[in-house]
Amino acid sequence: MVLSLLLLLLLVCSTRANQFLGTVMTYYPGNTNADGSVTVQLLYKLNFENCTMLTWECLSGNCGTESVVMRKGYESNGEWCQMEGISTRNVPSNAPFQLWLNGGDWIDNITNGIVNWRAVTLVELRNRSDIGKANTSPQTTILPDVRVPSNCQRNFNLLAFDPDGDTVRCRYGNTSLSECNPCTPPSVLSISPSCSLSFSPTSDEGPYAVQVVMEDFPNQNISLTQTNGTKTFLTPNDAISKIPVQFVLWVDPPVPSCTEGLYLPNFLPPTPNNRAQFFTIVNRAIVINIKAEAIISTISELLYSGPSTLIQNSTGAGQFSLTWTPSQAEEGGSFPICFVVKANYNLNIYNSDLRCVIVTVGNNPTTTTTLPTTGSSGMYVVGLSVKVSSSSQQSKDEILYYLQQARYYLSYYGLPNVTINIVSYVQH
Ligand SMILES: *[C@@H]1O[C@H](CO)[C@@H](O)[C@H](O)[C@H]1NC(C)=O
Ligand SMILES: *[C@@H]1O[C@H](CO)[C@@H](O)[C@H](O)[C@H]1NC(C)=O
Ligand SMILES: *[C@@H]1O[C@H](CO)[C@@H](O)[C@H](O)[C@H]1NC(C)=O
Ligand SMILES: *[C@@H]1O[C@H](CO)[C@@H](O)[C@H](O)[C@H]1NC(C)=O
Ligand SMILES: *[C@@H]1O[C@H](CO)[C@@H](O)[C@H](O)[C@H]1NC(C)=O
Ligand SMILES: *[C@@H]1O[C@H](CO)[C@@H](O)[C@H](O)[C@H]1NC(C)=O
Ligand SMILES: *[C@@H]1O[C@H](CO)[C@@H](O)[C@H](O)[C@H]1NC(C)=O
Ligand SMILES: *[C@@H]1O[C@H](CO)[C@@H](O)[C@H](O)[C@H]1NC(C)=O
Repeated sequence: MVLSLLLLLLLVCSTRANQFLGTVMTYYPGNTNADGSVTVQLLYKLNFENCTMLTWECLSGNCGTESVVMRKGYESNGEWCQMEGISTRNVPSNAPFQLWLNGGDWIDNITNGIVNWRAVTLVELRNRSDIGKANTSPQTTILPDVRVPSNCQRNFNLLAFDPDGDTVRCRYGNTSLSECNPCTPPSVLSISPSCSLSFSPTSDEGPYAVQVVMEDFPNQNISLTQTNGTKTFLTPNDAISKIPVQFVLWVDPPVPSCTEGLYLPNFLPPTPNNRAQFFTIVNRAIVINIKAEAIISTISELLYSGPSTLIQNSTGAGQFSLTWTPSQAEEGGSFPICFVVKANYNLNIYNSDLRCVIVTVGNNPTTTTTLPTTGSSGMYVVGLSVKVSSSSQQSKDEILYYLQQARYYLSYYGLPNVTINIVSYVQH
């Protein structure tokens, strides 16, 4: 039953598999088995105009054997479809290997001339001396299409979260390293090592292929130990792993005003800030509330990229929520979610800023931690002085909301039943 379904879908795809809109891949190391073999979980997004499945191929090293589950992520009305691939690989040792996607084509008439798609992931699973376990790649995601009117300045700050606490840096792909085919960067977008992409006004409208490579660097000298005992040394200038972040930047016709909230939707509280962190535990739903306004255009849709089990709800005009309940398989991981709000005016499409957040799924503390007890009551009262910095004024309710998030963080560190309240509140 499952097999015939798979064949049917592959057949449908083979009729016209082009119209690529980018990809992202991240990985988490799994268990090391008694025979020295290692499992690794690779999560990837595949973006096409119509939903399409592909699997990554082995580029170098021993990539072992794979089992993949593909699920459909968000599909935007006729614009794009994002598929999520969850691949579990079993490799004979912890030696590094590379996977790639290599084929064609991107969508038609890409302004920076890219036709063929190519993306490379370097999976490093040797034992790190600083953390005593295998590396986890940076965690990120992106929407297939990111839009900006040609006359507006805009920065896209990619999510660049590293669960090991490494320094994450971004650069454009390098053709001579076969990281893309070719890697010609978009002339309208400059990249900084901190993963910020800066767009300056231009008259060159159209779609651009953006082919970013994201890497994690150790914060100190470290060694990597292979299963057979061989050690390799890395300094803070040596990348550990690398992942691709590829998408299409659409430079649209000029908008009458670049001021947010008129044509371009503007985010309002309680929308989380870009790169905000959330904490939850298995089976506990996390709700991300998103609110936006546009006085002249009409807000039509929330576009997002995240785990395929994310549920969206529209809760009013310009109001959306994203609800996610992590399952046991997701325990201990950090999961990226990116979103923009889309508005229409006549036949024009206007996108808000891009925002991304990361949701960390803590280990269930009741099973892993024993708390010391204080006499009969078993209760501690702890005072914390917290400074909340924000560019806008935050209400007491909003601060309480962020403190509730901190509660999940505390439960992650073994304080399962913390009650949080604001005792006093001073605004500077
Ligand atoms: C996507 O699907 C639509 C509707 O089924 C079809 O008209 C269109 O040609 C497809 N596009 C591609 C690139 O296959
Ligand atoms: C791409 O460019 C060609 C030639 O200029 C044009 O005929 C075609 O319609 C364009 N395709 C799209 C999807 O815009
Ligand atoms: C990795 O190294 C640490 C010591 O640094 C050791 O405790 C751990 O068992 C090693 N892990 C594996 C999978 O070999
Ligand atoms: C691309 O990689 C090659 C080979 O490692 C290197 O010599 C070159 O400087 C790199 N190019 C850029 C732009 O970083
Ligand atoms: C890190 O390693 C480099 C090259 O092996 C060496 O020159 C440097 O002194 C080391 N730094 C520290 C802090 O050990
Ligand atoms: C360990 O394996 C690597 C390649 O996988 C090889 O280059 C190296 O010589 C091996 N080391 C030992 C001690 O066998
Ligand atoms: C969606 O939001 C509406 C309005 O707030 C609510 O009544 C409904 O229960 C929500 N649905 C889900 C699945 O959360
Ligand atoms: C957690 O606290 C609530 C009241 O704040 C109490 O009802 C509940 O029993 C407590 N749970 C545990 C496991 O202590």
